[in-house]
Amino acid sequence: MKKICFGILMMMMTATTSFAGDAVKSFKQDPFSHPHFALYVVLIMFIITIVLVSIAILYVVKTLNMFTADAEREKALKLGNTYVPRPSFWARLSQKMNASVPVADERSIEMHHSYDGIKELDNHLPPWWTYLFYGTIAWSVIYIVVFHLSDSLPLQTEEYESELVVAEQQAQRLRASQPQEQIDVEKLVYNADAKLIENGKAVFVDNNCGACHRGDGGGNTIGPNLTDEYWLHGGQAKEIFTTIKAGVIDKGMPAWGKSLSPQKVRDVTFFIMSLQGSKPENGKAPQGEKVIQAAPSDTLRSAAL
Ligand code: HEC
Repeated sequence: MKKICFGILMMMMTATTSFAGDAVKSFKQDPFSHPHFALYVVLIMFIITIVLVSIAILYVVKTLNMFTADAEREKALKLGNTYVPRPSFWARLSQKMNASVPVADERSIEMHHSYDGIKELDNHLPPWWTYLFYGTIAWSVIYIVVFHLSDSLPLQTEEYESELVVAEQQAQRLRASQPQEQIDVEKLVYNADAKLIENGKAVFVDNNCGACHRGDGGGNTIGPNLTDEYWLHGGQAKEIFTTIKAGVIDKGMPAWGKSLSPQKVRDVTFFIMSLQGSKPENGKAPQGEKVIQAAPSDTLRSAAL
């Protein structure tokens, strides 16, 4: 039995030595190649074994008890005594674990003082409590060996760091699978490419920019008119890009850089610029400074809208 326990402990220790390894998938995605897979299998087998062994032991003890009870009854009959069955295993265990002094005998453990007639009993700690306490001492030894001396299992911080490594690897793979076109905001100039403007229009619609700027960009009580030549924060492509990305939080314009990729911000910038001079009906009065910029040709604008 000792050998088995030791063997299982050693397996648990070696099963996890590769925890900081190079797995990139989470346990849910790919349990079989997860570095803790072997540990979990060993643990589950260990628990199943304990349960099965306990059931087997219970049955053996029960059968043995039956035989002893029969033998005792026969013996009592032979000797002409009355047969008194022995208390059950559970009754004895409970008595052993609590080892409490029966109420009738409490006088024997009474302490020799009394306060206003209230007396104190000199009870010892119940054995179940002391056994639990010894258990925690034993557990602390296992814990120190496993976590601090043999380093078989990762400590919380190590676990956290190895998860960060995995997350970084996942992020790298994600970035590699969706290469982002680099956008140099400083050099950004308007591009009347119909495809980009179409994408930008989708961004405008999907993100409900129209809730504040009106569907046609004409502006409403909250957002300014985006179709005129007057701009609060500059009308060049790079300025519009920056306004959309960073927002004007205290004036109620959200910072879209958090939820939109640079591509999307660029496309919606171009879409807004394509609205220049479209003069929607009842557009909001101009705000800010007049900015002269190359307006897109009408053909391109109508192609995009
Ligand atoms: C919750 C309302 C709201 C939403 C939604 C909103 N905006 Fe705005 N936006 C504003 C306000 C208000 C301003 C004016 C800020 C100021 O007064 O400085 C503004 C300003 C702007 C400006 C600068 C205008 C200028 O004159 O300089 C641009 C460009 C702009 N918004 C684009 C967008 C885009 C693109 C979206 C959608 C992705 C969007 N906005 C969604 C409220 C909003």
